[in-house]
Amino acid sequence: IGGPIVTNIQTCTKPKLPPNPIPPLYCCPPMSASEPINFTLPDPAEPLRVRRPVHAVGAEHMAKYERAIALMKALPHSDPRSFYQTANIHCAYCTGSYHQTGNPGLDVQIHFSWFFYPFHRAYLYFFERIAAKLLEEPGFALPFWSWDVPEGMQLPPEFANSSSPLYDPLRNPRHVPPKIVDLEFARQVGENNFTDEQQIQQNLRVMYKQMITNAALPSLFHGQPFRAGEADRPGAGTVELFPHNTMHTWTGDVAEPNVENMGIYYSAGRDPLFYPHHNNIDRLWVAWRDIGASRGYRGHVDFTDPDWLDSSFLFYDEEARLVRITVRDVLDIEKLRYRFDGVDMPWLDARP
Ligand code: C2O
Repeated sequence: IGGPIVTNIQTCTKPKLPPNPIPPLYCCPPMSASEPINFTLPDPAEPLRVRRPVHAVGAEHMAKYERAIALMKALPHSDPRSFYQTANIHCAYCTGSYHQTGNPGLDVQIHFSWFFYPFHRAYLYFFERIAAKLLEEPGFALPFWSWDVPEGMQLPPEFANSSSPLYDPLRNPRHVPPKIVDLEFARQVGENNFTDEQQIQQNLRVMYKQMITNAALPSLFHGQPFRAGEADRPGAGTVELFPHNTMHTWTGDVAEPNVENMGIYYSAGRDPLFYPHHNNIDRLWVAWRDIGASRGYRGHVDFTDPDWLDSSFLFYDEEARLVRITVRDVLDIEKLRYRFDGVDMPWLDARP
């Protein structure tokens, strides 16, 4: 037992789905005629993309995101860059479609373990570059949904317009703007009785707790180690449980059997809001390390375990080439040529 987790496209099989799933019911990517190529970093001379919050990036930029989604939706399903295949990538990595190379009886599941942040970072990296390519705008940057700061604590209105490609009919009809998000939302509990101001303050306390109080070690923030030969889902990190999971459930339609689309793994990538949501998660990974550096919290550092660093995932890039990317490849966002800007961390003052 031990070693990195490696996936192979040839071993992808049908997903293990919950009862009453909504089609499509198969998530494996198109086969590639050639072996995956190993990831290489973008040219260091490439300008840094600046990822900004949806609530402040401006209508013109949001119109670009909308157009990128429309262009991806217009590609044939056979194209690995289509929106259909993009959503399926997430499905395949969270439904046991992939099996561990060398241990075919064991699934690859990138949630509830130390792969949560790096898998989704790699996913967004390729997503952003595919969007930029289709838009013919090399510097295009993916906006993020900053539900952790008061200005971003609602469903972004651009996504609530039913004639937009950003709209998803499978969402909670009670959670349209200007309803304030509940970072602790649970289906079984439902709505609370907070005023908007109480909800905002509570959300800020939740952020402090998940980013600082309960996240003093890499395994607490990232999740537990998951190595070759081990069963999946060893344990999630703080932010993965909430606000990450809770915001998925808050967004999805609680009237659907599995809170589709956002509220369950297999369908979450079908909602165009998934990507700005995960972009905020990606930003919080950067924030957690920055807080550690500025406050001297020595546990706010990434793992150095080679089983983590050498684990790898498969994606198709903007040229439709199959690429193998490792955790090690995604640890430095400057090398990936992007950065975050446009919001502070007001929850740093919200110690519960
Ligand atoms: Cu892969 Cu937000 O889930």
